[in-house]
Amino acid sequence: MQLKPVSIGAGTIDVWQWSLDVPLEALPPLVSALNEAEFARASRFVHEQHRLRFIAGRGRLRAILGSYLGVAPNRLAFSYNAFGKPRLAGRGEPPLHFNLSHSGPTAVLAVSDRYQLGIDIERVLPFRENLAEHFFSGAENEALKVVPAQDYLGAFFRCWTRKEAFVKAHGAGLSLPLESFDVTIDPVGEPRLLRLDGVDDAPAQWQFLNLTLPRGYVGAVAALTAGNAVSLNYRGGTLQTVRRERRGAWWPAARIERHQALSRASRI
Ligand SMILES: CC(C)(COP(=O)(O)OP(=O)(O)OC[C@H]1O[C@@H](n2cnc3c(N)ncnc32)[C@H](O)[C@@H]1OP(=O)(O)O)[C@@H](O)C(=O)NCCC(=O)NCCS
Repeated sequence: MQLKPVSIGAGTIDVWQWSLDVPLEALPPLVSALNEAEFARASRFVHEQHRLRFIAGRGRLRAILGSYLGVAPNRLAFSYNAFGKPRLAGRGEPPLHFNLSHSGPTAVLAVSDRYQLGIDIERVLPFRENLAEHFFSGAENEALKVVPAQDYLGAFFRCWTRKEAFVKAHGAGLSLPLESFDVTIDPVGEPRLLRLDGVDDAPAQWQFLNLTLPRGYVGAVAALTAGNAVSLNYRGGTLQTVRRERRGAWWPAARIERHQALSRASRI
């Protein structure tokens, strides 16, 4: 019997957090939730840790969405837009909007029964390249220039995750030029969209929210709420501790090149 979708409401976006490092005995139900394509994708990971984390991410995503819809996790079907954004398959507006982000062993999921949304988390790690120049708009770079050195990393990652959450919510992936919109970078108050080229009322249409995350992570949600005020409802609690990760280059030069190639390709 299929149950009616659980209503989340106009004022709330549900947020789920979980660890992707699960004990082996917890894996069977997660594996059996996957469809063939997901199973094949899992099999293609070279490193076992990455494979197991993908299974723990996709399996739990299916279990959570299934619990809202009253559907067994393995009965859910996803479709993907041209940029790879997953949504629940079916005709018309899906009963739930969702977006997933993972960084190291931590996954977060935002769910709404009415708003198109995106979520992003990143581990705050030092890096060497001038990434802001590569990825941020002129206004964002100007705002970063006046941030005291000791606050730079936090401001950089706030800007990054807000931009990434917006790109993911928007759905156009890397075909949305990163210099075509500005976000706030300050730590106080609610984050905001300041500008989106060609859409004068975009700042009033989009709401941004900071995520409460384990120490060392920064994250944001962006949602097209059309002026409705929303707050986050942490379902299943927040993760308080995470295993220490090996520190390393967070965004090596090779990934910048890949990003630039993808950006160029998506604009052809
Ligand atoms: C595809 C993209 C979403 C990847 O982002 P990411 O930070 O590497 O990954 P995240 O963990 O946040 O999100 C991955 C999840 O988002 C979802 N996703 C995939 N493509 C997506 C898209 N186009 N839009 C929204 N969500 C998407 C999937 O659920 C995916 O999970 P999966 O890998 O387990 O299938 C995309 O935004 C991208 O490649 N960004 C490159 C990074 C960049 O240039 N950022 C600039 C910020 S200033």
